Amino acid sequence: MKTEILKIDIDNIDEDKIKYAAKVIEQGGLVAFPTETVYGLGANALNEAAVKKIFEAKGRPSDNPLIVHVADKSSVEKLVLQIPDKAVKLMDTFWPGPMTLVMDKQSIVPKIITAGLDTVAVRVPSHPIALALIRAANLPIAAPSANVSGKPSPTHSKHVINDLNGKVDVIIDGGFSNIGVESTVVDMVVDPPMLLRPGGVTLEQLEAVIGEVRIDPALLQKKFDDVTVPKSPGMKYKHYAPKAKVVIVEGEIQKIAFKINQLVREYESKDIKVGILATDETKHLYPENLTVSLGSRLHPETIAANLFNAFRYYDKTDVQTIFAEAVDNSGIGLAIMNRMSKAAGYNIIKV
Ligand code: TXA
Ligand code: MG
Repeated sequence: MKTEILKIDIDNIDEDKIKYAAKVIEQGGLVAFPTETVYGLGANALNEAAVKKIFEAKGRPSDNPLIVHVADKSSVEKLVLQIPDKAVKLMDTFWPGPMTLVMDKQSIVPKIITAGLDTVAVRVPSHPIALALIRAANLPIAAPSANVSGKPSPTHSKHVINDLNGKVDVIIDGGFSNIGVESTVVDMVVDPPMLLRPGGVTLEQLEAVIGEVRIDPALLQKKFDDVTVPKSPGMKYKHYAPKAKVVIVEGEIQKIAFKINQLVREYESKDIKVGILATDETKHLYPENLTVSLGSRLHPETIAANLFNAFRYYDKTDVQTIFAEAVDNSGIGLAIMNRMSKAAGYNIIKV
């Protein structure tokens, strides 16, 4: 299949190109488009055959449900049985934006989207190109992240082109996604609501609006093995992963740097090519040629925005093991540590 690349300027949206992409969605095709979190791979959510193509293009397991993207709160009413009061409050506060709510679905939502579940995940993105596309198509758009399954989510069109060129009808090139980690997923079917995936909207922000939010116990699960990759369940938990092995070092900053330098010497003596994911505050503590800074610890949003891009950068090098500094778990840090931990297969060294 020939993939068309449509370059669209976020500050000066070409409506003809949007209409063209919307037509492709209406006719059952696949369009990758930028959102403020990561790029999505979109299809008409009400067309089962079109949604099936998403799973095929990504190589996504059919038991992993998709998020349905709509343009406004009122469009959600057609998709879900009821909108709980707390969901209304969250929508009014954080939409359009990086938050996805899980609610009981109506029968109009095809089973293929929800992987057979009775619930559906919905979100109103804030990216102007995403919103323009949904409005022009005048349809709910099912869209997982636009990466090949198992790879880090794409935060730039070049990542999407790398993964999906030749497998989808259209890729909209809209530059970088500025948040860089996926949306926060909250299960609103239970009360108190439950955080299923930390993301662009923080746990603290959610709780400030609706009070207690529980955390899915699976998110807190950690394995504190030494530098070996866990024998099992390994792949089951490994997502968002670069080709290189990732090892996280967690603790007080000076101790982290000491440990990473020690590991670097040890690995290099065994001829293993290493890389270091550091921060602006610590990068000077490491050999310069091995180190990438994700940004300042004072601005963890920057670290979130750069993380997947850094993982993909390492895929283009011959680095075999990446040592990554842990960051604080609060705010957006919870999402950063969740993605890093998954990439590391929960391979975390505490110092
Ligand atoms: O930021 C994002 O959410 C991006 C952009 C494109 O919007 N999309 C995204 O989609 O990250 P995806 O498919 O990569 O992740 C969707 C997540 C998965 O963890 C999936 O298991 C969960 O949402 N999910 C979807 N429907 C669900 C449901 N009914 N119940 C529980 N979890 C659900
Ligand atoms: Mg994904």
